[in-house]
Parts: sequence; C-alpha cells; structure tokens
Amino acid sequence: MTGANGFVGSHLTEALLARGYRVRCMVRQSSDLVYIRDLPVEWAYADLRVGADLRDGAGLAAACQDVDAVCHCAALTRAPDEQTFLRVNAAGTEALARTALEANPNLERFLFLSSQAAAGPAPGRDRPVDEAYPPQPVTWYGKSKLAAERALTAMNPALPATIIRSAAVFGPRDRDFFSYFELVKWRVSLYPGRNEQLLSLAYVHDLVALILLALESDRAAGSLYYASSFATSHRQLAEAIARSLGKRPVHIVVPDPLLSFIASWSRAQARLTGKTPLLNDQRIIDMRQPYWLCTAEKAGRELGYRPASDLGTAIQETADWYLENGWL
Ligand SMILES: NC(=O)c1ccc[n+]([C@@H]2O[C@H](COP(=O)([O-])OP(=O)(O)OC[C@H]3O[C@@H](n4cnc5c(N)ncnc54)[C@H](OP(=O)(O)O)[C@@H]3O)[C@@H](O)[C@H]2O)c1
Repeated sequence: MTGANGFVGSHLTEALLARGYRVRCMVRQSSDLVYIRDLPVEWAYADLRVGADLRDGAGLAAACQDVDAVCHCAALTRAPDEQTFLRVNAAGTEALARTALEANPNLERFLFLSSQAAAGPAPGRDRPVDEAYPPQPVTWYGKSKLAAERALTAMNPALPATIIRSAAVFGPRDRDFFSYFELVKWRVSLYPGRNEQLLSLAYVHDLVALILLALESDRAAGSLYYASSFATSHRQLAEAIARSLGKRPVHIVVPDPLLSFIASWSRAQARLTGKTPLLNDQRIIDMRQPYWLCTAEKAGRELGYRPASDLGTAIQETADWYLENGWL
C-alpha cells in the first residue's frame, strides 16, 4: 500500500486488513501516521521522487520485495508547478511499477488509483465521462495522472495493472470537502461560478469497496474503471451538508472575476509563506468546469459494484465523524 497514511489510503488499509490480507504500508519518515499507527501492518519507508537525495530514496525496492499486489494510492494532489506533479505522480508511478515488477516478475496486480482529472470534465450534463471517452485533462494534476496511466499501460501485459479513475472523494478524514462543512457551519454556502454545476462524487467507503472488487477480480487485470457514488449539484451538496449539521446557510454564488481575484490573492500569500495555496489558478480551472460527471456503470456491470448509501446518508456519516472527532 502506497499512500497508506493518506485519506483514501488509510481507509483502504483498514479494509484490506479486515479482509485478511497481510499489508505492508509504504510511508515516509515525515508522514503523519495518526490513522494507521496502531494497525497490524509491516512498514516500509520510501519516497516516489525518483533520484531525490533522501533518506527515504533507497526504499522503493525494499518496499516492493515479495508482494503479490501493489495498491498505489500515493500522489500529490497539490503542487506548485507541473514538473513537481509529473515527477511524483507520473515518473514516481512508473518507477514504482518497474521496481515492483523487477522484485516480483509474477506480480498478480498493480492497482493504480487515478482520478477523473486524468480524463477531464464531461462534455455535457447528460454525457458523463466513461471508459471510452478520449482523455482531455485540463489541469497539471490531471495531466500527471494521465501520464502515469499511460506509463502503466505501456508495460502491459507484463504488468497486470488495474486503473481506477475516481470522482472527487469525500468522507471521514477528508480535509478538502471539510472546508464546505466548515463554511456551512458558519451558515455560509459558496458556489463557484454557476449555480447549475454538476459533479460526481465518490463516498470513500464505496471507493474502497470498488477497489477491493477490482483487486479480487481476474477480469479487472488490464482494465480501467470509473468510480463514483452519485451525481449532485453544488447546491444539493450544500443543502445535504446543511441538513447534516442542522443549519440554514445563506447561499452565495461566487462570480468568476471574484474567483480570479481570490486566486491572485492566495498566490501572493503563497509567495510570502512559501506554501502551495489552497486556491490557485489550477484549482480555479477545476472549479470553472460545469460538469465533473463520470459513470461507474462498467464497474457495476463487470465487477458487481453498487454504491452502498445515498448522498444524504453519506454526508450525515461524514458530518458525524467531523463532529465526534472535534473537527467541527
Ligand atoms: N481525494 C480525492 O478527491 C481524490 C479523487 C480522485 C483520485 N484521488 C487519488 O487518490 C489517491 C489518494 O488521495 P488522497 O485524497 O487520499 O490524498 P492524501 O490524503 O493527500 O494522500 C496522499 C498520500 O500520498 C503520499 N505521498 C505524496 N507524495 C509522496 C511521495 N513523494 N512519496 C511517497 N508518498 C507520497 C502522502 O504521504 P505523506 O503523508 O508522507 O505526504 C499520502 O500518504 C491519490 O492518488 C489521488 O490522486 C483522490
């Protein structure tokens, strides 16, 4: 398991253990292990940044020694420039796959958690992206995930890769959608750009269930699947969050020019603090797309995947977790 300490990775690690797998978690010396520290797993320390002069750098080969399968969840989802994304997400993924194959010529599976960002947004509200749709990523992150997918596909058939392109993921432990919950708690609900923007979402427990189905299905070797639980609008999402918190927020649409202004302001702040801004031009490109829609119909048909809960239930479970853990 790479990215084992991350949001999705920590849930997947728990699910793998619950199914009886022996799990080795690949983390870094600097990783925050809060959710996995006490789990009965093996540890390996490695960094995906190829050629980096790091204490972690030599660890990829050791991390891959004697494994049946690799679940690759580690990635950068924020970075200051395209090269940094490509180095970790594309070159790092390729290096990991090559190392895993060298160490295990009969590797049973390389499961790569990709993103809808690799394909880009849907062309229309009634045309969710599916596996046949030609990828047109619109961000550096999306391009780096697509480059990683292509590197893995080029290693076929030696590498039995399964690629899962997930819609935006939410659920307990997630910090991205958490900002929406925080705002709604303060009775404010902000929508970027247009009111009618639609997006597919993956509830983390559904995504993990789909990953397990794909990992355990022979049919999934060499295949690509989309993962999503449901489609919604920003307004419906905000209303579900508001219900989960018992709040009645004021709904505000943020016009495009204001978004651009906020991005310039966060860029200036980032230059001063040296941190990657939460909202930057790349994030705004993402937010301006009207239809981040994809369909998990193929995963349903071939793997028997069914999302377990509806939007309201999944949002309520997430809100309860934030409240119980003192985040809200
Ligand atoms: N969250 C979403 O909405 C979403 C949607 C679609 C696809 N995905 C994909 O799902 C996967 C997990 O995302 P997440 O939301 O769980 O992200 P996350 O919480 O930020 O986790 C990212 C993980 O990647 C690790 N990582 C980053 N750079 C690394 C490097 N150079 N070497 C080794 N490990 C490194 C991190 O380790 P450290 O803690 O040490 O930094 C962390 O464990 C990613 O591949 C992402 O592209 C996520």
